[in-house]
Amino acid sequence: MRLDRLELTDFRNIVHATLTPAPQLTVLCGANGQGKTNLLEAIWLLTGGKSFRGAKDAELIRRDQPFSVLEAAFEAGGRDQQLRLTVGAKGTPRPGRTARLNGADRGRAASIAGTFTAVAFDPNHLSLVKGGPEGRRHFLDAALCQLYPGYLAAARRYARVTAQKNALLKAYEITPGAEMLLDTYNQAQAQYGSEVMRRRAEYMARLAPAAAANYRDISSGAERLEIRYKPCCEPGDPALLAAKLAEMRSAEIRAGFCLTGPHREDLEIFIDGQPGKVFGSQGQQRSAVLSMKLAEASVAGEVLGEHPVMLLDDVLSELDDARQTYLLTRIEDKQTFVTTCDSAAFARTNGKLVFVTSGEVTE
Ligand SMILES: Nc1ncnc2c1ncn2[C@@H]1O[C@H](COP(=O)(O)OP(=O)(O)O)[C@@H](O)[C@H]1O
Ligand SMILES: [Mg+2]
Repeated sequence: MRLDRLELTDFRNIVHATLTPAPQLTVLCGANGQGKTNLLEAIWLLTGGKSFRGAKDAELIRRDQPFSVLEAAFEAGGRDQQLRLTVGAKGTPRPGRTARLNGADRGRAASIAGTFTAVAFDPNHLSLVKGGPEGRRHFLDAALCQLYPGYLAAARRYARVTAQKNALLKAYEITPGAEMLLDTYNQAQAQYGSEVMRRRAEYMARLAPAAAANYRDISSGAERLEIRYKPCCEPGDPALLAAKLAEMRSAEIRAGFCLTGPHREDLEIFIDGQPGKVFGSQGQQRSAVLSMKLAEASVAGEVLGEHPVMLLDDVLSELDDARQTYLLTRIEDKQTFVTTCDSAAFARTNGKLVFVTSGEVTE
């Protein structure tokens, strides 16, 4: 995947700008509040996904303008493609986000998902190491949904039956036929849950070693990252999850809610043998998340046959010089965008420098 050109009109603080990135590394430099993240956000929108900042359409359009236009030329699947994405304000002829791909109207931008692929990292992702298990499950689920269309269906069915089972367990004593109903729910949980667990286990078997290798490189071999998937039982076989659910049955009835299953699982993250959440420094936690994100991109590259573009926002702060240099000189055939407001970083990179000032882009 390679973005060759992006032209932006009335997008956030950008009146009009053209970006022609390098095939490998492009470093977006500028002081705070100039539009660096806005540029990354624009590239991300080409994926057809939601804004990584969770922004609403109205926030994307330059203040007091009716719509934004993003016009992109990129290489995907071995051919040059053109994408025109517009974001229209409410009440305009074309409200919301719509896409035109290689000249053909594709309607809603979400319909082009999978055409242009990217992986984004921003400082909020630190919660992957620092936060609770739901953030790590979300990371797994989001990555798996992109790779396997069937995963979303299984995960949704599992979530639905789990909600139904929770409602039953809460009112177990007063529900007629509760025992049979619970049998049905357990069976469905075992079926869909084991599918979810099988994919998670497969995914982690690829992600964990890739993330560990990235971390080794980022830390110049000085530190070790270990990520372990903690399944609630041996993954993959519905009978095993069914057995686990049977074992927990009376405890779940007593508790009044579901106690086990993929919706309660977690990833364990160790830095040099210590739990990263508790013992990791800010810089180490950042390196760990970055390693996971880079690994997410390379696993997606293996599975989909095309490496996603990497968007790394504000990753350099809190990394020591050696770690920054690693990121700024990491030349591969994978296109990467890095933002920085650190003027010292400019001198160290072998990537293309692009300066962003008050929404203007200078190459
Ligand atoms: N819809 C919008 N219209 C005009 N300006 C906007 C809009 N949305 C954000 N901005 C401006 O963009 C700037 C922030 O840009 P950003 O890319 O986050 O900066 P940074 O270079 O620090 O990453 C702020 O000055 C903000 O006021
Ligand atoms: Mg920013």
